[in-house]
Amino acid sequence: MFDYVDGAADAELTLRRNRAAFAAVEFVPEYLSPVDHPDLSTRLFGREIAMPLIFAPTGYTRMMHHEGEAAVARVAARHGLPYTLSTVGTSTVEDVAAAAPGGEHWFQLYLTRNERLNTELLDRALAAGFTTVVLTVDTPVAGRHPKDMRNGLTIPPSLTLRTLFGMARYPSWALNKLTTAPITFASLSGMSGMSGGGASGVSGMSGDTIDAVRVADVVFEPTLSYQHLAWLRAHWPHRLLVKGILGPRDARRVVEAGADGVIVSNHGGRQLDRTPATLTVLPEIREELGPDATVILDSGVTHGQDILAARALGADAVMIGRAYLYGLMAGGERGVERAVTILREEYARSLQLLGLKASAAIARHHLRMP
Ligand SMILES: Cc1cc2nc3c(=O)[nH]c(=O)nc-3n(C[C@H](O)[C@H](O)[C@H](O)COP(=O)(O)O)c2cc1C
Repeated sequence: MFDYVDGAADAELTLRRNRAAFAAVEFVPEYLSPVDHPDLSTRLFGREIAMPLIFAPTGYTRMMHHEGEAAVARVAARHGLPYTLSTVGTSTVEDVAAAAPGGEHWFQLYLTRNERLNTELLDRALAAGFTTVVLTVDTPVAGRHPKDMRNGLTIPPSLTLRTLFGMARYPSWALNKLTTAPITFASLSGMSGMSGGGASGVSGMSGDTIDAVRVADVVFEPTLSYQHLAWLRAHWPHRLLVKGILGPRDARRVVEAGADGVIVSNHGGRQLDRTPATLTVLPEIREELGPDATVILDSGVTHGQDILAARALGADAVMIGRAYLYGLMAGGERGVERAVTILREEYARSLQLLGLKASAAIARHHLRMP
């Protein structure tokens, strides 16, 4: 499981580029102005969030720790930050809404060719009070993850001699897996759109026993197009973001097609390897969309200073994926709490060291990109 989270696609070049781009940034401080009690908050879609940080959607989260999505959503709500549930999450939209009432919940959608399923997913997210849909577009097919292939990873894990040996080395993880609710693709399980074959159904799928191979067949959609985006725009009444944008042309097109903003993302290096680091394409995308569009960045954010860098180059906020999953794997809800607290402290301290009193004060001239 650790390699599944930590690893990336192919030679992991993009994974390293993401981190290298953040590391290459140079900050230019502005001293002799008061910086006590910095205001970390920021406005996103006209509403205030506690800092420019959002929890990215990650699939299979209860595999990493049995407390799973509910724990992450609770931490997000406590910190006044949005949480994004994945279509291939192991908790339902209803679970998340119940676990973290009052939190701001977003739903990441893998739009499929099964219109009934798409409609059901949207209806349930709407009924559960989710405010925003995130359409992920960088997954026409699954990325190739050599570490998972070497490890023989299957989801859920199959009980081979090797996995049993692995589980024996982590008895509390194994015990939790055996004594807590079984892991399912909760958002997809039991959906009428998932059962049966026929015109729109997916043959061979039924009930709660959906395996990862079948799920991959459904969620990775090679025919995804602007027609799907138009359908989604017509069927989702609230905010809509498109995730996986890496160039100004696509950014412009999806906004013209009705998206309320973009998430500049290379999926944390897990899809197409050799894409640019998101930080290096961010300025072009911001320039193309102008100051008013919502632009969020993810991929490689592991330090509060990464948030500063992204803000300086034009992002309204960043998303984190692995940064919270490491915390979750290490300590469940407490681990996620610790991860966010670390990021928050780093961000606050770095703002002050830069000579700034508020998130809103970060500007392009505070940063140099060699
Ligand atoms: C284990 C794992 C599972 C993920 N699952 C999804 C998913 O189901 N849907 C999605 O849009 N992105 C998914 N992502 C990508 C994240 O939403 C995000 O783009 C990425 O993690 C950002 O990079 P970072 O991990 O360096 O922060 C996943 C990422 C990880 C690490």
